[in-house]
Amino acid sequence: MAKYKDTDKYIMNTYKRYPLTILSGKGSYLFDSDGRKYLDFIAGIAVCSLGHCPEVIHKTLSDQSKRLIHTSNLFYTIPQAELAGALAKKIQTYDKKLPLYKSFFCNSGAEANESAIKLARKFQKKNGQDRYEIITFLNSFHGRTYGAISATGQDKFHKGFEPMLPGFKYLPFNDIKSLKKAINKKTSAIMLELVQAEGGVNIIDVNFLKEIKGICEEEGVLLIYDEVQTGVGRTGRFFCFEHFGIEPHIITLAKGIAGGLPMGVMMAKEEIASAFEPGNHASTFGGNPLVSQVALEVISKMDKKFLKSVEKKGEYLIKSLSLLKEKYPLKDIRGLGLLIGADIDIKEPSKIIDKAMEKGLLVNITAGKTMRLVPPLTVSFDEIDEFISKLENTLKEVTR
Ligand SMILES: Cc1ncc(COP(=O)(O)O)c(C=O)c1O
Repeated sequence: MAKYKDTDKYIMNTYKRYPLTILSGKGSYLFDSDGRKYLDFIAGIAVCSLGHCPEVIHKTLSDQSKRLIHTSNLFYTIPQAELAGALAKKIQTYDKKLPLYKSFFCNSGAEANESAIKLARKFQKKNGQDRYEIITFLNSFHGRTYGAISATGQDKFHKGFEPMLPGFKYLPFNDIKSLKKAINKKTSAIMLELVQAEGGVNIIDVNFLKEIKGICEEEGVLLIYDEVQTGVGRTGRFFCFEHFGIEPHIITLAKGIAGGLPMGVMMAKEEIASAFEPGNHASTFGGNPLVSQVALEVISKMDKKFLKSVEKKGEYLIKSLSLLKEKYPLKDIRGLGLLIGADIDIKEPSKIIDKAMEKGLLVNITAGKTMRLVPPLTVSFDEIDEFISKLENTLKEVTR
């Protein structure tokens, strides 16, 4: 286990890094500079959806980089258009009665949310409404750019960077009373994560979501789902909203969409999307041919059978964790697909990170006490067994 010395010398001090220098990866494993092997249940924070360095990405990058890497959005390119078509089709596959959703491509989750915020305000303005406020929820996480941190309902991310962008209200999650009170003629949109991942793997209550949908319809408010972490197969459905049967006006994706290459997407129903006109929004790299072609290949792997396997493996992981719960301080095991949280009920929950690392296992703690498990979606049942055995050894030692 070793830090890479030049990192601290030349790179700004914005990340608390684990003391590992990773040299390579394959499937569900990473290898460090000492030649040690780690079973990776972080997967680049829910990004490496097909595992580390899958052949399909290697081949696509190689082929596409010989053809065309970047043109800017001054030109039409085939991979970007095909990807937008494939994403729209994913929504139609879920429910063919839903309208066409159009895409805007960018490079990260924060940017996808920025574009959603801009589109919501623009749509309301275009319809003669002076609606600019956006309601979000406590413990949400929407990214680090100014719009996205302003949308994020956690003070710790705002501290030192105030003032935030005006027009954001943060309400308790799953609390319909406070939402009804907060809605007014200035509300343009409600933006939420169906599973607050960074905030502690908190799953939305379906009745709360139904009420929100009703309010949106009655009041002319847009519903935005931040599916940056929950989208693209992570929860065992291509979009997490499929679990709840309530579609949004706008949806954002990033993380797993290009299997580790940077891409963000903001999708919106056609009638909302049409509020954007040329010049309203842009991204130099957004949807470039190289990344789009990779994303196309990644999402083409996510057929019914693949998604079913994610669901099954998630259920198996939850069941296996529940068995450990009887002997060790694990609480509230919850999740959807392969986005799973379990609270570590010890004084210093983060202790398990270092101990697990010693045992060749990478796990992450969020919201102070929640072990957030987001392995590659290609993880095998055997690897889940290996995870459980390594976690058991870890818990044994930290509770000794
Ligand atoms: C739900 C959600 N939204 C937005 C973001 C920000 O994404 P990015 O770091 O790609 O900007 C994250 C990142 O963790 C996230 O989990």
